[in-house]
Amino acid sequence: MENSSPGQKEYLWVARFYDRMMRHVNYGVWTKYVIRMFDLAGRTVRDVVDLSCGTGKHMHHLVKAGFHCWGADLSGAMLRVAAERPTLKNRLWRQDVRRPALRENCCDVVIMLFDSVNYLRSEGEVQRLFDDVTRMLRPGGLFIFDTVTEYMIRLRMTEYYETETWDDLAYERRSAYDEKTRLQYNYFTIMRGHRVIQETHCQRIWDHGEMIALIEKSPLSLLDARADFKNKRVRPRSERIHYILTKPKR
Ligand SMILES: C[S@@+](CC[C@H](N)C(=O)[O-])C[C@H]1O[C@@H](n2cnc3c(N)ncnc32)[C@H](O)[C@@H]1O
Repeated sequence: MENSSPGQKEYLWVARFYDRMMRHVNYGVWTKYVIRMFDLAGRTVRDVVDLSCGTGKHMHHLVKAGFHCWGADLSGAMLRVAAERPTLKNRLWRQDVRRPALRENCCDVVIMLFDSVNYLRSEGEVQRLFDDVTRMLRPGGLFIFDTVTEYMIRLRMTEYYETETWDDLAYERRSAYDEKTRLQYNYFTIMRGHRVIQETHCQRIWDHGEMIALIEKSPLSLLDARADFKNKRVRPRSERIHYILTKPKR
C-alpha cells in the first residue's frame, strides 16, 4: 500500500523560522553548483521552474544570475515568506507538486531542491512527478533534484535533537527514523508566547538504487548523479545526491 502523502500543515509554523533555522546553508553556493549543471542541457537555459521553492532562496539567486524563474510550493506560509523578496515579485503560486498545472513545454529546467522529493512518499508519486516534469520541459531540458541518503539519516538524524530561542519564538526539534518504513520524522515543538504548537514533518528516504530504477521506468534519461556537492560518484557513504535528468530531444 502507498504511504500517505504530505499535508498542508507541514511548514505552517516552521515557515516563520525556516530561514533562521537554515542560516548555516549557503544558498548562493548551492545555486551556483546547480547553475553549472545547466551546461548539460541540450538547449539554451532561460526559463526555470522551482516546484518546491519554499521561502524562495534558490530562486532569488537564480533571478539575480539572470534566469527567468517561477516558483511553486504547497505551503502558503512558506510562499508568504518568499513573496517578501523583491526579486520574486509576481513569480510565485501555490500548488501541490502531485497535481501540477503547468502547460506543456513551458520551461528549460525544473528544480526541486533540499530534500523536497523526499516529501513524496510513494513510488507512484515519484513516477507521476517524472511524467509531469517531462510534460513541462522543452526537449533537451533538465530536471534537477536532490535527495538525502539513508547513510546521512542514520549518521546524523536518527536521534537528532536541536533547540533555539529567539525574541519572538523558540523551538525544539527531535528526529526519528523508522528503518522498516524508511520514513524519517521531524517533530517540532514551537513555543510562542503562551502557545505551544506541534508540527510533524515526514520524509521518505529513497535508496539510490530505488531512485535509479524509478528513473529508468520514466520518460526522462539520467545524465548524472553527483554526491555531496562535488562531481563525485555516488558511494555508500554519500550524504546527498543530486540527480540530473533530461527530456530527450525526440
Ligand atoms: C526542505 S523544504 C525545501 C524548500 C526549498 N526548496 C529550499 O531549498 O529551501 C521542502 C519544501 O517542499 C515543500 N513541499 C512538500 N510537499 C510538497 C508538495 N506535495 N507540493 C509542493 N511542495 C511541497 C514544502 O512546503 C517545503 O517548502
